[in-house]
Order: sequence, then C-alpha cells, then structure tokens
Amino acid sequence: MYDISNYKIKPEPVILGLESSCDETACAVIKGRRLLSNCIISSAAEQAKYGGVVPEIASRAHTEAVEEVTSRAIAEAGIALSDIDAVAVTYGAGLLGALLVGLSFAKGLAYALNVPLIAVNHIRGHLAAAYLDDLSLKPPFITLLASGGHTAILKTTSFTRFEVLARTLDDAAGEAFDKCARVLGLPYPGGPHVQRAAEGGSPTIDFPSAQVRHSSSLAFSYSGLKTAAINYCHNLAQKGQEVNVADVAASFQRAAIEPLVENTVRLAVQSGITTVTAGGGVIANGYLRSRLSGECKKAGLKLVLPAVKFCTDNAAMIASEGLNKYMTGDFAPLSVNATAHIPL
Ligand code: KG4
Ligand code: ZN
Repeated sequence: MYDISNYKIKPEPVILGLESSCDETACAVIKGRRLLSNCIISSAAEQAKYGGVVPEIASRAHTEAVEEVTSRAIAEAGIALSDIDAVAVTYGAGLLGALLVGLSFAKGLAYALNVPLIAVNHIRGHLAAAYLDDLSLKPPFITLLASGGHTAILKTTSFTRFEVLARTLDDAAGEAFDKCARVLGLPYPGGPHVQRAAEGGSPTIDFPSAQVRHSSSLAFSYSGLKTAAINYCHNLAQKGQEVNVADVAASFQRAAIEPLVENTVRLAVQSGITTVTAGGGVIANGYLRSRLSGECKKAGLKLVLPAVKFCTDNAAMIASEGLNKYMTGDFAPLSVNATAHIPL
C-alpha cells in the first residue's frame, strides 16, 4: 500500500522530475541541486506543420514518449530506480490532456517506489531554473519572468515565496513574439525565428514600446505592440509592397525586450536587492540576454541567467522546483489532478 507517513526528509535527495504540459516530454534527475541528467523528446517539429500545438497530438506524443524519456534520464543519471527519493511532476498550467500523461505516469512511479509525489506549478518551475546554474543562489532576488503565458517582475523572498512587483496588463511577451512571427510568415514557435530574422535587420520601425508609460507600477502591455506589428504588415501587403521581415523582427524585438530589461534593473536598484535572475522561454532570446547582462553589469547587479536549455521547457527546472517543495515537506496526494490554469 502507498504510505509515506513515516517518510524522512533527506538533505541531498535524488529527485526525478517530469514535464508534459505542452509539446515537450521531458525527464530529469537531480541530486540535491546537482543535475544528473536532462532528457527531452519533443513533438514541436510535428506541431509546426499545424502552425501551433494541437492538444490531441501533444497528448498522444507524450503517451508514446514518457516511458522512453524516463528510462533515458535514469540511465544517463547512472542511478537505479530504488535511488529515487521523490517524484516531481508538472500538474499545471498547460494542456489538460498533455498534463495528465506526465501526472499519471509520475503517480504510478511514486506509488511503485513508495516515495513522495511533488506537484509542481510549471511557471514556478521556470523560476527555479536559475538555481541550477548557480548552486549557491539564495533568495532574496529580483526575477524577470517572460514566458508564453506570463510576463512579470517578481521579488523572490524565499525558496517558496515571491511577490509580484510588475506585470503585463494584457498579453505575455512570448505570445506577442508568436503572433509577430505568424504575421511575418515565420514558423511556430515564433520566438526563436523572430530572433534569427532580427539578426539580419535594423530596428528602423518605430513600434510602440511594451512599457506602459502612464503607469507608476512599471507595468507592461504587449497588445498595442502586437497590433502595431500586424497592422504594419497588413498595410504594406494591401499596397502590394514587400515587408522587410528582418527590420520588422528587429524593431519588434527591441520594443518588446527593452522595457523588460529597463524595469527589471530599475526595480532591483529601487529595492536594494543586488541579485537578479530570470526564467521562461523568452529568456532564451539572445538580444534580451545580452541587454540584461550589460545593464545589470552597469548597475552593479549580480545576474544569474539560466542556460538557454533551462529557459525553454525542460524537466530539470521541474525537479529544481520539486526540491524547493521537498525541503518543506510539501507533498501531493495521489488524487492530485491536472489544472489548465493557475494564476501567478
Ligand atoms: O516559458 P515558455 O515555455 O511558456 C510558458 O511556459 O508559458 O516559453 C514559450 C515561449 C514561446 O512564446 C516562444 O516563442 C518563446 O517562449 N521563446 C522565445 C525564444 N525562445 C522561445 N521568444 C523570444 N526569443 C527566443 N529565442
Ligand atoms: Zn514553459
């Protein structure tokens, strides 16, 4: 019978993390915060044919990949199944059918091994990625979160708590990148393609910045920028003129990224917190990474920037957040369900 009532918290647990919220089936193993393996099987190439993630295809792809990716992660970590002290898994937010594949598999594994199950919020996983890059990182720090579903600046006050200092009033930055890519005829997911296109262009078009000018809270807004990029392209198309994809991408990227960098540094300086971290898929953006590094350096702030492979969806970040919850004994019952939406 499954019974973890006498479970003792270990100082350096081996945690297996599983992620299946969107189109990546991922499994990773950590010992303490040290990464032992990090494996991904992606259905992104198949999804790209449809211009976005088709939930049914994602669920089926997870079902086919979850055992293989887990076996690989265990083998690469050089551990036995019996070495696993806890199983951490994404329970939300994401596509319900996709989440249920990873969650059900994780439950089976936790049950068979009689170890705690840890239910991880995907976005908190993105935030915990920074701990993997700097094993000595400890709160407090200021965190820039920029993903497909969220854009915010947070004050992380402990391993399990944060306060929201600034956020988007409408769309998320990643979502705006994806829409900009679509109007430019670039494939899904759009972010990396906009970045690549921007490398060959100049930011000559004066798109409205994602900074909300009249706000004292340093909020962001991406809907105006997104609409401006779409209208710009449609207007040229109506006149039969060609769109300079590289220049649109470079101009959009600058307008989307500069406020994120500026506000993050400003809020860090204002709060007197000298460490800055970042998380979420948009943090993979090369322009953002170089601008944030430069501005943090100028302001005398220490920046812990997760490696690109820890910014886009992965299971190492889920295991890392799993460790934060493990240390406080925050375990889930095997009846825990998947959740499509979780507020920040
Ligand atoms: O953080 P994430 O997995 O989304 C959520 O969990 O909500 O990130 C996915 C988003 C997509 O919108 C994708 O276009 C964007 O991150 N992204 C990028 C880059 N790589 C991924 N955006 C800009 N530049 C990139 N290099
Ligand atoms: Zn994600």
